[in-house]
Amino acid sequence: MNHVNRQWCVGARPVGKPEPSDFTYREVPIAEPGDGEVLLQTLYLGIAPVMRMYMQGLGAVGEAPLSVGDVIHGRGVAKVINSRHPGYMEGDIVQGQLGWQTHKVSRMTPGERFFKVRHHDVSYALSVRMLSMTGLTAWTGFYELGKPKSGETVVVSGAAGGVGHLVVQMARICGCRVIGIAGGPEKCAVVSDLGADAVIDYKNGNVSARMSGLCPDGLDIYYDNVGGEILETCLENLACNARIILCGSISEYARPGKFGLKNYTNLRAANAAMLGYFVYNYLDRFDDCNAQLVEWIKSGQVKPLLDVLDGFDKMPEALMGVYDGKNVGMRCVKVSHP
Ligand SMILES: NC(=O)c1ccc[n+]([C@@H]2O[C@H](COP(=O)([O-])OP(=O)(O)OC[C@H]3O[C@@H](n4cnc5c(N)ncnc54)[C@H](OP(=O)(O)O)[C@@H]3O)[C@@H](O)[C@H]2O)c1
Repeated sequence: MNHVNRQWCVGARPVGKPEPSDFTYREVPIAEPGDGEVLLQTLYLGIAPVMRMYMQGLGAVGEAPLSVGDVIHGRGVAKVINSRHPGYMEGDIVQGQLGWQTHKVSRMTPGERFFKVRHHDVSYALSVRMLSMTGLTAWTGFYELGKPKSGETVVVSGAAGGVGHLVVQMARICGCRVIGIAGGPEKCAVVSDLGADAVIDYKNGNVSARMSGLCPDGLDIYYDNVGGEILETCLENLACNARIILCGSISEYARPGKFGLKNYTNLRAANAAMLGYFVYNYLDRFDDCNAQLVEWIKSGQVKPLLDVLDGFDKMPEALMGVYDGKNVGMRCVKVSHP
C-alpha cells in the first residue's frame, strides 16, 4: 500500500479569483486509525464555488474555519480501507467531508456529515455531486421554496452548471416554461438540449433586452445561482407573486466589495418573495431527494452532466476553472480508482 497522504492546503487567502499561488501541495504519512476510527481512501472529490470562501477562512458547516496551511475543505466519496469503528466495515463506500486529501482518518462525527453510498449502480462520480449536496440544493430550492406550477415561466442562471442544469430539467419535468442563462454559445446549446425553451447567452448580448422580450408577462420563478447584474435584471421582470430563489451569487464571490442590489423594492409592487436558503438545513430531505433523482436518471427524464477531471493534481485547476466557467455540469475530480 502507498503510505503517503497527498494533500492540497491553503497557500494564501485568494484575492479575486483563485490563483495557483493560493494552493500548496503537501505529502504526509497516512495515519493509523485508533479505536472508534476509520481510515478512508478518497475516490472522488466534488468541486464547488464555495471552496474559495473556505480558503478565505469562512467555515464549512461542522468544520473549523481554515488557516493558511490547512487542508482545504471538500466533500467527496471514499472507501473504508481499515475500520475500528462499529458502524463501518472495510469496503463500505461513504460520502462526506474528506478535505482535499487522498486519505483521512475519521471518527465519522455528525459534523462531517457522512452518508453511506447506496446507489452504486448509478456511479460514484454522481454520488459525489448529484446524489450529494448539488442534487439536494437544486431539489430543495426549486421545489420547497419555489413551489413551481405547470405553465409558469422559470428563469435559471448558471444553467449549464451543477445545480443549474438540474433545475432546468426539474422545471421542464414540472411543465414549466424554462429560460436558461449561461455563458457562451456552447453552453447555451447544452442548456437547449436539456429541454430549455429559450436560452440567454449573458456573455454575448443584452440580457435585459432578451429577458424582457422572452418574459413579456414577467417571470414566475427566478432560480439565482449568480447574483449581481443578472439578479438585478430579473427583478425588473417580475410577474405577480413571483419567487426569487437565492441559491448562490458566484458573480459576487470574487469581486471586491459588495454588489449592492438597488431594485429589490420591485418585490413590493409584484407581491413577490425573495427566499434564501442553505442546503444543510434540508438534510432530512436527503433520502427522498436521492430516490427521486435516481428514478429520473434511470427513466431518462434527467440527464446528469458530469464534468470529471482525472487526478488529484488537478484539484486547483478544477476550482479555478469554475470561476472561469470552464465546467459544463457538475465538476468533480477522480482521485483514485475504486
Ligand atoms: N444555497 C446553498 O446551500 C448552495 C449549495 C450549493 C451551491 N450553491 C451555489 O449554487 C451556485 C452553483 O453552484 P455549482 O456548484 O452548481 O457551480 P457551477 O454552476 O457548476 O459552476 C459555477 C458556474 O458559474 C458561472 N459563473 C462563473 N462566474 C460567473 C459570473 N461572474 N457571472 C455569472 N456566472 C458565472 C460559470 O458558468 P458560465 O460559463 O455560464 O458563466 C460556472 O460554470 C453557486 O453560486 C454556489 O455557491 C448554494
